[in-house]
Amino acid sequence: MRKKVFLTRTLHDFALKELRKKYQIEVHKGKIPIPQSKLRSKIKDIDGLICFPYDIINKETIELAKNLRVISTYSVGFDHIDTKYAKEKKIRVGYTPEVLTDATADLAFLLLLDSLRRVSEGDRIIRDGKWKVVYGAHDYVGVDLQGKTLGILGLGRIGQTLAKRAKAFDMKIIYHNRNRISKTKEKSLGTKYVSFEKLISQSDVISIHVPHTKETDKMFNMKVFKKMKDTVFLINTSRGKVVNEKDLVVALKKKIIAGAGLDVFEQEPIGKGHPLTKLQNVVLAPHIGSSTKETRSKMAEITVKNLNLGMNGKKPIYSVGY
Ligand code: DGY
Repeated sequence: MRKKVFLTRTLHDFALKELRKKYQIEVHKGKIPIPQSKLRSKIKDIDGLICFPYDIINKETIELAKNLRVISTYSVGFDHIDTKYAKEKKIRVGYTPEVLTDATADLAFLLLLDSLRRVSEGDRIIRDGKWKVVYGAHDYVGVDLQGKTLGILGLGRIGQTLAKRAKAFDMKIIYHNRNRISKTKEKSLGTKYVSFEKLISQSDVISIHVPHTKETDKMFNMKVFKKMKDTVFLINTSRGKVVNEKDLVVALKKKIIAGAGLDVFEQEPIGKGHPLTKLQNVVLAPHIGSSTKETRSKMAEITVKNLNLGMNGKKPIYSVGY
């Protein structure tokens, strides 16, 4: 009997073909993220699981698995998986860092540029037939990047790559991280380590690159927004839950902060009625940080490799803990 692999969303044809050679595979069709009830009924007798961000693979779900050897997520983030419990049950967890670093840093920088130069807002104005003033001295003006301070929260791979982009645009870069990086690296990136308090009060743009954990949950809230400059822009390409979205909407509406560029949200997808969609000073993207042809295809390749290794009782190429 072939081992069973379940995918909560479809993947590239080459990846499915590869999987079909070895396993009996089933791909979830229908509502995304997969409803918990369906995931729980499927997990009971599968050997391998390929999942995506916002699929909830918690303890209660993992507990139901009788044969599961590996969970392979098509993402660098793994906050949707109870990795601690998976380890206890000797289930390997694979993920896809590195290959998506450039694409995600590019998107963070794009949101930064768009927020400061108001391109998406201008696009909406034109499409809505509201472009009336031509070349007005005070119309659709943005702000310069050059000489402004970019505060990076989380100077891991993506944060460091963003720093390189910002340096090329003559921005000053400060960062806060759990651990300070080496002085040599700080020098080559042109970054300066500061406390979280300094980061939020000194930055003209803040870009978030920390995972969602108990410690980072809603760490950007009204108390924090009030300590920021009222000219600051907040960029988030990490996880929506790091920001208190209700507070963010109020801060943007009341101009406590100047604007935001967001690729991630507390709940995804967000729809037309979401309060953020009513605001002009926010640029919204549908969680596309890693979404380039090249990157997504490399991610699929690694997702399959991680799964194969785990199915054979081996450690995935990129493995969480075990
Ligand atoms: C991931 O892979 O976790 C990121 O959200 C990519 O954008």
